[in-house]
Amino acid sequence: MSCDAPPRIAYVDHAVDLGGAEHSLIELISRLDRTALTPTIIHTEGAKWLQSDRIADVAKVAVFLPHPLLEQKRDEVSAGLLHLIPNVWTALRLSLKLRGALRRTGAQLVHTNSLKTHFIGGLAARLRRLPLVWHVRDLLGEDEGYHWLRRAARLLRPHVIAISEAVAEQFAGLPIEVTVIPNGIPLDNFCPGPPSPRLRNELGLTADDRVLLMVSRLTPWKGHMTLLEALAGLAERWPRLKLVVVGEVAFWEAGYEQQLTQRAAELGLAEQVIWTGFRSDVPELLRLCDIFVLPSVREPFGRVIIEAMATGRPVVATKSGGVPEVVVDGQTGLLVPPEDAQSLASAIETLLGDSQRAQQMGAEGLARAHKLFSTDRVAQQVQELYQRIFSENR
Ligand code: UDP
Ligand code: GLC
Repeated sequence: MSCDAPPRIAYVDHAVDLGGAEHSLIELISRLDRTALTPTIIHTEGAKWLQSDRIADVAKVAVFLPHPLLEQKRDEVSAGLLHLIPNVWTALRLSLKLRGALRRTGAQLVHTNSLKTHFIGGLAARLRRLPLVWHVRDLLGEDEGYHWLRRAARLLRPHVIAISEAVAEQFAGLPIEVTVIPNGIPLDNFCPGPPSPRLRNELGLTADDRVLLMVSRLTPWKGHMTLLEALAGLAERWPRLKLVVVGEVAFWEAGYEQQLTQRAAELGLAEQVIWTGFRSDVPELLRLCDIFVLPSVREPFGRVIIEAMATGRPVVATKSGGVPEVVVDGQTGLLVPPEDAQSLASAIETLLGDSQRAQQMGAEGLARAHKLFSTDRVAQQVQELYQRIFSENR
């Protein structure tokens, strides 16, 4: 490589499916200044998220094969020593393989984008003596690998990008640099406006239905059960209230979908709840709703919230993780305690009963999204961080 070729950054992510972390990475990579750096994506064989045409021209190297360790849920990560030994062995093997790929691709900085690659990619980067950036998007409980993450940070000394102050808090007191860079979205893809009559028809919604919308993976910590309880409390007073739930389960949680539909039926909500499965038309779906709801138990950030704000919709969400940094309680939405169906129902009812206030909150959310949450800002801040790292290492 010639001396003045742009530095090559290796972006490492082990996910197969397209989640919020991968959406964010695609956005970041597609907005990089390619005259200043060259990205390579290091991924798992068969990763579906690579199909995005936004990253069609980026070099890609499959280093990981789908493996039980990579597919493990975060609350299994620290499930005792017996589990740990084979995991450490697998992680070491993957790190060595990754080290080879970093050498072959001439990577000059390693940017890991997913929890497991912080460990695997971190070790590989250190073995190659390369600068390491962890883009941390998880909020871990004490029993979900929190202590392992801190130990690894102490050992590997990454530059941490945290997607919220709440995520950054996990590294408090450690001798590492943490930069908070909130997520951004392609704001032009989202715009306020009336719902499409075709989409209303497709989902069986009538013009006088009031619509709540939730968009997320179907996974327990996103809080669907609490929302179903809340809806049951509202159904009598708001007979035209519908809930549209967008998103799908990951294959290892297949049973959760059935638990949800069963619970909805038990609560007498079979007619009120519309399950769409995974959709690639979220911007249009967002326009269907009067109120966007995200009742997560512990949400690191929640891209969907800024997507709803950019669509001019008021948000009812929980005071959890990074959410209060995104939603201004009482101004762009209402925040309630997690796992509290009654408070959730009452916040939803407040906005259902006061359309003017709801619209005002939507308008304030739209302005806030445009002021704070663009992908260009993220790309710029990340590139400034790289520059700082390269100049420190010179
Ligand atoms: N999403 C989507 N289709 C779906 C469900 C989700 O395109 O059916 C997108 C959603 O619009 C958002 C991302 O997936 O951009 C989810 O990101 P978020 O940060 O909200 O949640 P995560 O799943 O990463 O915790
Ligand atoms: C993670 C988090 C989510 C965040 C997303 C993008 O998947 O669960 O809150 O918005 O990453 O950073």
